Amino acid sequence: MSDERIEHVVVPGTFDPVTFGHLDVIRRARRLFPHVTVGVAASVGKNGSGPTFTLDERVRMVEDALVEEGIAERVDVRPFSGLLVDFVREVGAGGVVKGLRAMTDFEYELQQADLNYHMAPEVESVFVMSSPQFGYVSSSIVRELASLGSDVSFLVPPNVARCLAEHFSR
Ligand code: PNS
Repeated sequence: MSDERIEHVVVPGTFDPVTFGHLDVIRRARRLFPHVTVGVAASVGKNGSGPTFTLDERVRMVEDALVEEGIAERVDVRPFSGLLVDFVREVGAGGVVKGLRAMTDFEYELQQADLNYHMAPEVESVFVMSSPQFGYVSSSIVRELASLGSDVSFLVPPNVARCLAEHFSR
């Protein structure tokens, strides 16, 4: 096991779409590490269904949200497909940072971290506890509310609220 300091981490996710919960995790990863890459996964997320937004749309929404939130500095956004650990190696990062909201997240994340460790033991898995006000926020809840015409401005930044409104008015 390397004892090299980790200077660069990946915050991965489907970001379909990015929420204040994700931005909280990115903000905290950025406090802990000098350089953060947000990895937007092309593939299907844990719910098994295909994403609502295209990969390009999801990348753009994260980029714009980082600027709106004032946390774009030292953070870059890149799409990826295939294994997360391959992407982490490709960008030269030393770890993965993810947020934990509840026990249900823990079971899934432990399994993912375990698999990732077997494939790439040098890649550190780091978890931050979601800030309490974001514990219930998820992309699926945001999509459901937006599809029913509800105001989601308390869950996502303005640029994402606009994209949701446009998507569900089509
Ligand atoms: O936002 P999500 O849906 O919780 O993100 C899940 C994601 C994209 C981080 C996870 O599905 C992932 O790491 N996908 C890449 C494929 C992979 O490496 N899987 C883990 C080992 S089997």
